[in-house]
Order: sequence, then structure tokens, then C-alpha cells
Amino acid sequence: MKGIILAGGSGTRLYPITRAISKQLMPIFDKPMIYYPLSTLLSAGINEILIISTPEDIPLFKRLLGDGKNLGCKFSYKVQEMPRGLADAFIVGEDFIGKDKVAMILGDNIFYGSQIDNELSKYTNIDGALGFAAYVKDPQRYGVYEFDKNMNVVSIEEKPKRPKSNYANSGLYFFDNNVSKIAKHVAPSKRGEIEITSVLDSYLKQGNLKVCLLEKGTAWLDTGTFDSMMKAAQFVQVIEERQGIKIGCIEEIAYKKGFINKKQLKKLAESQIKSGYGKYLLDLI
Ligand code: DAU
Repeated sequence: MKGIILAGGSGTRLYPITRAISKQLMPIFDKPMIYYPLSTLLSAGINEILIISTPEDIPLFKRLLGDGKNLGCKFSYKVQEMPRGLADAFIVGEDFIGKDKVAMILGDNIFYGSQIDNELSKYTNIDGALGFAAYVKDPQRYGVYEFDKNMNVVSIEEKPKRPKSNYANSGLYFFDNNVSKIAKHVAPSKRGEIEITSVLDSYLKQGNLKVCLLEKGTAWLDTGTFDSMMKAAQFVQVIEERQGIKIGCIEEIAYKKGFINKKQLKKLAESQIKSGYGKYLLDLI
């Protein structure tokens, strides 16, 4: 399975801080935002990853992450000229996906918990589509899943005025190889975007959508407003300082997944020793 990180968009909800820099490069405590969704894909055992962003920001992502070789990964990059919608990732990424299955994660979504660390690799051979539902207080801000009494998904709606449940569509998805074909047939919504919820709805109508509930102990953090971004950073800081671990540490996960060996990890550590981040990596060896 390959992976896509969708890291474009206009970022206007965070102006002026995102006027000159991509939202997904903003710091969340001690690392750039994109490290978190990237670490989620690595946890699933996915190391061939396409990063999609705006023409202005792609060079910055390349500068940060390079070709991925030092992490035992293969990173490639593609420009999305206009924010046409989340489902556009599968059109922009069609050649990259080729004949494979694909996981997609939003570049501003942070997941944390043992479910995410340990269980994702079991979905990489999926037939159909899989989404992850998170219980939230304010479902009207999201895509919303409706379930029957056996917790089978029965509908999905994008930002409904009257949500049928409190289960939000989080920004992580696993798809079989039909996803690009399906995305191409999706009609734009009222806001003029080709919605991920429409793609999921097509799979649902074919009887091929599964939705996994995020466990209570799993954190799905919002980074969409000044407040929520600050709170996400504080969350990371508190857990990291209290437990002596790091959240979203791509070098650590690449090492634990066997993408890189001790020698390669040491090299990565030494190049960032001054910030203390490298010291953490050295301590893992
Ligand atoms: O965060 C989860 C929600 O993400 C889901 O519950 C919704 O179903 C889904 O539509 C989406 O909702 P938003 O309206 O909040 O998405 P937003 O426009 O904020 O885009 C999400 C991220 O994707 C954001 O970091 C920008 C990036 N993006 C967005 C669009 C529309 C792109 O890179 N390209 C795009 O074309």
C-alpha cells in the first residue's frame, strides 16, 4: 500500500500566520505539523509516500523531507494547482497510486494512541474503503457518519446542519485501487469541492465502506484554529515531558518499523543534536 499526505489548501482560516508559510509546516510544539500525519502512515508500515501541496509550498516540503531515503522511505511530490477538494488527491495522485492500494491522511490531522501506533498495518490490504470515526461535541463542523444499532455505517454527510450522530469523519482513509476512478466521477458540492465524503458515499452505496471507531484513548487533535493549534501543541508538550517519549517522531518510527538501522538513526540524530531532538534519538539506540 502507498500513502498520500494532502498538505495544500489556502490556510485562510489561520491568516496572518499562514500568509507566507504553509499551515502544515507550522510548529506543533517541537516538530512541523506534517511530521504527525507522516508518522501515522509510517506506523501503518507505509513508506512510499506522495506529498501534495500548493505550487508555492512544494519546494519547502522538499527542503524539509527530501526524497525520504535517509528514513528508508520514498517520498515524491505533486502540485495541486487549486484547492479543488480532498478527493482531488486521488486524481492528482493517480499515476503515483498506479495499480496499488492507498492510504490518505490530511496534512493537518494529528492522531495519537496505541490504536494508531499498533493497529493500522492490518488495514493495508483492504478491499473497498475504510474511514475512522471520532466522537466529537461539534459534529456540524465535519463530515458526519450515521450508524445503525450494530454500528454499521448507514450514511455520511458533509457538514450537515442537523447531524445524525456525533461521529465525525476524521482525516485518515484506506482505499482499494478503485479510488481514483470513483473520485473522477464525483460531482462538486455546493462549496465547489469534490468531497471525500462523496467518495466514501460511493463506496457505501456499493456496500464497500467500513468505518472504524477511534477508541476513547485515541486522541484526534484539531489544528484548524489559533486556539486548537495551541492546545494541540500543549497536548504534545505535556505528554512528551511527562512520559519522556515523543509523539510523531518520524525517525523513531522509521527505526522501529525496520526502515532504517541503528547506524542510519545515529546519523539522523547527530544532525539535530543541538536542539535536543537528536539526543532523544540517540537515547533510543
Ligand atoms: O478534518 C476532517 C474533515 O476534513 C472531515 O470531517 C470532512 O469530511 C472533510 O471534508 C474535511 O473538512 P474541512 O472542510 O475541514 O477540510 P479543509 O478544507 O479544512 O481541508 C482539510 C485539509 O486539506 C487542510 O489542511 C487543507 C487541505 N486541502 C484542502 C482542500 C479542499 C488540500 O490540500 N487541498 C484541497 O483541495
